[in-house]
Amino acid sequence: MRNDLIIGLDIGSSFVRAVAGRQNNSGKLEIIASGKANTTGHILQGEIVNINKTSLAISEAIKKISGALDGKNTNYYFSSNLSGSHINVQPYTSTKIRKNPREAVSVQEIQALIEDAKKPILEKNPILLHTLPIGFKVDNLPTTNDPVGQVGQKIQAELMIITANPDKYGLLVQCLLAAESEHIKKGNVYFSPVAASTAVLSSEEKEEGVILVDIGSGTTEISMYQNRGLVKSLVLNWGGDRLTEDIRIGLNVSYENAEALKTTFGSAISKLIDINEVVMIPGIAGRKPTPVSVKNLAIILEERLKELAAKIIAEVSQVGDPQSFKSGIVLCGGGAQLPDIAELFQKVTDLECRVGVPMVVQNSQVSEEILDPSYATAIGLIQVYYEQLNEAILSEEAEATTIISQTGAEINQGNNKDKPGIKKIFTRVVDVLMGSNEAEGEY
Ligand SMILES: Nc1ncnc2c1ncn2[C@@H]1O[C@H](COP(=O)(O)OP(=O)(O)OP(=O)(O)O)[C@@H](O)[C@H]1O
Ligand SMILES: [Mg+2]
Repeated sequence: MRNDLIIGLDIGSSFVRAVAGRQNNSGKLEIIASGKANTTGHILQGEIVNINKTSLAISEAIKKISGALDGKNTNYYFSSNLSGSHINVQPYTSTKIRKNPREAVSVQEIQALIEDAKKPILEKNPILLHTLPIGFKVDNLPTTNDPVGQVGQKIQAELMIITANPDKYGLLVQCLLAAESEHIKKGNVYFSPVAASTAVLSSEEKEEGVILVDIGSGTTEISMYQNRGLVKSLVLNWGGDRLTEDIRIGLNVSYENAEALKTTFGSAISKLIDINEVVMIPGIAGRKPTPVSVKNLAIILEERLKELAAKIIAEVSQVGDPQSFKSGIVLCGGGAQLPDIAELFQKVTDLECRVGVPMVVQNSQVSEEILDPSYATAIGLIQVYYEQLNEAILSEEAEATTIISQTGAEINQGNNKDKPGIKKIFTRVVDVLMGSNEAEGEY
């Protein structure tokens, strides 16, 4: 792992962000380079519509970090994302009658239960991105994240299954293959919020209940966590571009000026803005500059964002009482950079709200730009794959405890219950389940 480099590739509706990371001397993941390229018009609402231009943008973003990619003894991996309203996230229950009810539940048994659950799902849709456990139940015992050691006749796994449309997945693979640098060995694809959550949410927040809202340019992803597990996730065809469009129409300015107004003078709480504050929009071809009220700009943004906050609460209410998400809302994505957005969401939803900035160690040569909510997915992609690679190494080191591998779940039947490391590996299997998948993208 020491020399291996992971390239996180967040392929979004406005930018491809490429970030390279590797393990530093203290064993921590360190970000050593970042670069981005524009994708406007080539990816709409998270879905690739122009494969040539998207793969060019990927190549361009990788080129910008290529200075950090030299060195002959380095393996390069990529970790990329998939999003869009074609992604289907749904709960799935897998139940098994145990052969020997008096024997303690083992790691291998859990792994087999999850593997069995995948078969019928894969028959319907080969693009199974994730099979995330959210709890296990043995007979009538309380639901737990760690059933190992329990005894009973029946075991049940509650899973969250994330599948993608095969055609949309195919387009992503086509773009990645076309853009692939000769150095890149192999990689994985993750549902965007799975990555972003790794970068900006703490395990305590996931335990207490938290709602992650990633406001991109063409999409907003809403993901809810409780007891450490993902309980619901959806992708809205709605993002910051909609706000820009509202400003364009509401203030009668060009789209470019609307975007500049939003990102430079925008705010989510209009009452904080002085009524007399005005920005002059330069006139084109010698025309006079036009004054624009900053308060009106904020009113437009505030109204639209209130709608989004109300939509989030409506979606959360389908899962349970919003107040049961004790850690409230964490906002990320480029849209989370709007001043006062967390305060507005807090006011409308009555939930605590903060802006999530990636928690990461960065090399001194890397721009501060990455410590920004719009880098949550790119950084999370590296973190999530780094954990996966480390787990694969850990499991190899533990010899007979090999329960997972890069290419598929391997269940070793050897007597390894007392070996050190098994508990750690199991915790990871539950937290970060990975295994075989035709799409080579499961986590
Ligand atoms: N300071 C700012 N204030 C408000 N919005 C901002 C600011 N900076 C960037 N944005 C908005 O963030 C959005 C881009 O966010 P991001 O880069 O996360 O999107 P993306 O990942 O490319 O798209 P998606 O995730 O929807 O596919 C744009 O709508 C942009 O206008
Ligand atoms: Mg995004």
